[in-house]
Amino acid sequence: MLEVRDLKVYYYTKKGVARAVDGVSFSLKRGESLGIAGESGCGKSTTGMAIMRLVERPGRIVGGEVLLDGTDVLKMDEESFRREVRWRRISMVFQGAMNSLTPVYTVYQHFKETLKAHGAYAGEEEAREITVKMLRMVSLPPEVADRYPHQLSGGQKQRVAIALALLLSPEYVIADEPTTALDVIVQAQIINLLKELQEKGMSIILISHDLGVISALSDKLLIMYAGKAVEYGSAEKVLRNPAHPYTKMLLEATPRVSGGELRWIPGSPPDLTNPPSGCRFHPRCPLAKEVCREEEPKMVEVENGHWAACHFT
Ligand SMILES: Nc1ncnc2c1ncn2[C@@H]1O[C@H](COP(=O)(O)OP(=O)(O)OP(=O)(O)O)[C@@H](O)[C@H]1O
Ligand SMILES: [Mg+2]
Repeated sequence: MLEVRDLKVYYYTKKGVARAVDGVSFSLKRGESLGIAGESGCGKSTTGMAIMRLVERPGRIVGGEVLLDGTDVLKMDEESFRREVRWRRISMVFQGAMNSLTPVYTVYQHFKETLKAHGAYAGEEEAREITVKMLRMVSLPPEVADRYPHQLSGGQKQRVAIALALLLSPEYVIADEPTTALDVIVQAQIINLLKELQEKGMSIILISHDLGVISALSDKLLIMYAGKAVEYGSAEKVLRNPAHPYTKMLLEATPRVSGGELRWIPGSPPDLTNPPSGCRFHPRCPLAKEVCREEEPKMVEVENGHWAACHFT
């Protein structure tokens, strides 16, 4: 079980302190998948990076716990975390990973270097075998091993990036925008691939600004707005019965989910160094009243296994 409790990650910028992740909690069991959705800049990637303990300056994890089977991995010393947890138990496909492959390395060389970096390289022959096996896992033919990134399509590169993240057989994989910048057909193929991995028992945290992508895959949903969790729970319940006005608006802005007329959310997310008082969504919320400006809403259970933070639920 992976449990994130009251996670806080702040960026200490010249402009001030950006509270990018400000008290986010969720959990997922082995084999479960969780989708994290929300507009650009709401703290999705930062949440993933914090779980991996890869938040870099000026960012810092300032509070909370990340419990992996009950052990707070944020309290482990860096060396043990690197040896036992990062990539081995929890791994991440970074946002834009497919464009971060090294242009002068073949696909095989990427696998070889990654194996070496983890002290798992035991010679050319075995590394080749492992590469072909990993490629097969993401439905790529063996000959891809000898290609350079520029000889691959976007979808193929994304599969390679996913295969690299799976190299040490992690239990939890954080996939950050794995379908962004791919055409819809390839998007669907990547989603199916993630589904297959989930069926094999892997737990996936899928990060996307696109609720359509997330709803196709996730058992649970976490909706973030401006560093806060605004709604959380069983994906089926959140999608069927969204309780937070932001979630409703996000759904209406998602073609494949809404089905109806497409709407957009007026305005834009706030500057996180100076977020609105009370409910951070109040300046854009059609329901906003005085109380929303004054008081921050707490997460309350709206139905069994479904929570939202809104004064009007
Ligand atoms: N290195 C950094 N320095 C300063 N601020 C940062 C840094 N990285 C992120 N932030 C800020 O933290 C907030 C959250 O960023 P994050 O990348 O987590 O958002 P996101 O939800 O993943 O957005 P997107 O959908 O665009 O990927 C943003 O307001 C961003 O400006
Ligand atoms: Mg991001």
